[in-house]
Amino acid sequence: MNSTGACIITDRITEELSVLIGNLNPSSVTWLTDDNTRNHCLPTLTGNLPGNNIISVPAGEENKNLEVASRIWKGMTDLQIDRKGLLVVLGGGVLGDMGGFCAATYKRGIDFVLIPTTLLAQVDASVGGKLGIDFESFKNHIGVFQNPVATLIDSCFLKTLPFAELRSGFAEIIKHCIISDQSMFSRISQFDLTAQPLSELISHSVAFKKEVVTKDPKESGLRKILNFGHTIGHGIESLSLNSGHRLLHGEAIAIGMITESWIACQRQMLSAAELSDIVGFILRIYGKQSIDFSTDKLIQVISQDKKNKGNRILMALPDRIGSCQWDIAVTPEEITASIGYYFNA
Ligand SMILES: NC(=O)c1ccc[n+]([C@@H]2O[C@H](COP(=O)([O-])OP(=O)(O)OC[C@H]3O[C@@H](n4cnc5c(N)ncnc54)[C@H](O)[C@@H]3O)[C@@H](O)[C@H]2O)c1
Ligand SMILES: [Zn+2]
Repeated sequence: MNSTGACIITDRITEELSVLIGNLNPSSVTWLTDDNTRNHCLPTLTGNLPGNNIISVPAGEENKNLEVASRIWKGMTDLQIDRKGLLVVLGGGVLGDMGGFCAATYKRGIDFVLIPTTLLAQVDASVGGKLGIDFESFKNHIGVFQNPVATLIDSCFLKTLPFAELRSGFAEIIKHCIISDQSMFSRISQFDLTAQPLSELISHSVAFKKEVVTKDPKESGLRKILNFGHTIGHGIESLSLNSGHRLLHGEAIAIGMITESWIACQRQMLSAAELSDIVGFILRIYGKQSIDFSTDKLIQVISQDKKNKGNRILMALPDRIGSCQWDIAVTPEEITASIGYYFNA
C-alpha cells in the first residue's frame, strides 16, 4: 500500500482542492457523487473548479455493490478517462469505499481524492485505505487497501446532513475517546451532541486513527482496537436490517460500546465508575433502542464475524477509559448477559 496520503482538514475546501488539482495536473477531473451529495455538496465546489465530468449514482448501502461499481467503471470508460485522470469522490463512507475501489482498479489504478461529506466518513471511513463493495450478503467482501492522493475534510458539509446521520457518525468519535483519550472523553461527556466542538473532534479522531493505521496498516494487531463496540454492534446492526427497527451503524455501535464495556467491567478491566460514565453518556445521546430479535440469533451472527479465530469470539475491550486491548476471547454467555444489562441499565 502507498503511504497514508495527505489528509487536509480545512474550512476553505474549494481553495485547497484547486491547489491540489494544480499540483497534480491530471489529464481530466471527474466528480463522483451520489444523489444527495450531488444536490447538497457539489454546488459548494464546482463553481470555480475544473472538471465538468460528473458520474452520479444512487445513494445508500444497498447500492454499494458490483452493479453500481460497474456503472462507475462504465462511466469512466465512456468519458475516456486515461491513466492520468483524477477521480474526486464526494460523499459518505459508501461512496468513499466504492468510488475509491473503482479508481484503484480502473486501468490498474488512477489517482483519486476523497472528500468525505458525512461525519462517519470524516472521522473513520476516509482514513486507513480500506476500499471495497458488498457482495451478496457479505459486507465489504470485495476490496483492496489503497490510499487516496489526498483526503480533504471540511465540516461545512455537515450542515445538510440529517441529524440521525450526524449522531451515527458521532459514535466513532466516542469510540476513539474511550479507547485512546480519557481527558477528551470526560470533556465530550459534558455536552449534548449539538454543543460538541465538532471541528476539533474531527481533527482529534483523524489524528488518532492515522496514528493507529500507520503503525498497523493491515490490521495484524493494534488496529484491532478500532473494533471496540463493533463485535456486538455489527451483529446488532446486521440483524436490525431485516427487522422492523432498522438501526444506523452508529446507533448499533452505541449499544455495542455499552455491552462490551459491561463485559470489560465484569472482567475488572473497567471500574464500575468508568462503566457508569460511559453508559450514562451514551444513553443520553442515543437513548435506549429496541431490538426485536433473540440473543441466540445475535450470538449466531457474532460467531461468524470475520475477525474471530477458530470458534472463539474475539473482542477489543478497554482496560480503562483511554486504553484498549484486543483479541480478547469472550463467551456467548457473557454476550447474552451484557444484552440483559443493556435493557436494565
Ligand atoms: N473504509 C473504512 O475504513 C470504513 C470505516 C467505517 C465505515 N465504512 C463504510 O462507510 C459506509 C457508511 O458510511 P456513511 O455512514 O457515511 O453512509 P453513506 O455514505 O450511505 O451516507 C449516509 C447518507 O447521507 C447522505 N449524505 C452524505 N453526505 C451528505 C451531506 N453532506 N448532506 C446530506 N446528505 C448527505 C448519503 O447520500 C446517504 O444517504 C459503510 O458502507 C461502511 O462499510 C468504511
Ligand atoms: Zn464503525
